[in-house]
Amino acid sequence: MTRPKALVAGNWKMNGLKGAVDEIIKLNDLVGRSDAKCDVLICPPVTLIFAIIQLNLKHVSIGAQDCHGKSIGAHTGDVSAEMLKDLGCTHIIIGHSERRVDHGENNVIVNKKASQAQKFGTTAIICVGETIDEYEAGKTLEVIVSQVKSSIPSNAIVENTIIAYEPLWAIGSGKVPTVEGVEEVHTSISKVLVERFGSEGAKINILYGGSVNASNAHALMSTVNVNGALVGGASLKADDFFNIISVYDQID
Ligand code: PGA
Repeated sequence: MTRPKALVAGNWKMNGLKGAVDEIIKLNDLVGRSDAKCDVLICPPVTLIFAIIQLNLKHVSIGAQDCHGKSIGAHTGDVSAEMLKDLGCTHIIIGHSERRVDHGENNVIVNKKASQAQKFGTTAIICVGETIDEYEAGKTLEVIVSQVKSSIPSNAIVENTIIAYEPLWAIGSGKVPTVEGVEEVHTSISKVLVERFGSEGAKINILYGGSVNASNAHALMSTVNVNGALVGGASLKADDFFNIISVYDQID
């Protein structure tokens, strides 16, 4: 069973003022002039989404970094999945570890948010990852399998689900797991997805994230069961991000 095209997604986090839109225009030009072998997504801060969508970029999809777990109502400062879909977002990152830590989002909340993202027609990029303590205690697989199982909502289908494996200790740290370690985790996630969705579950993209850059991307992206990347710091500049995207020119 072949997986869909790989996805290289940029997570800008809380970075980028109005002028940063120029980086996305540049990225769109770079991807457009190349024969990109993967899909490309940028998830800018919510403040920039409207301006970027107005540009009608052909080669870069636009997503969001979070949505609320309810559809509508008295939730000051929050944004619903329907609002993001209405703007033109194709994907929403759900349950990023920075949200799990900063905002106390557990698997139940993540499940509700993913359900909203999917209900309104976007693809949920559901993030999972172990802490350094869990990693050192040898609990990685146990933690990841449990997070994946409980974070995927009951209304999920193969076409609107993506999993991103992001060890917390690898995010923004410059440290990455070994290729063997990444393969082991991604293969376990793949098994959970096949258990959940049947053989079609093997079509769900499983992204790796955490300190991906142009130097380590080839090794990580060639790993069995890795179908793309979720990139933070190295997605902020079009040239850096394009160097990661270009790695797919050398991967079958
Ligand atoms: P990083 O962030 O690439 O800066 O490590 C990845 C992420 O948090 O999605």
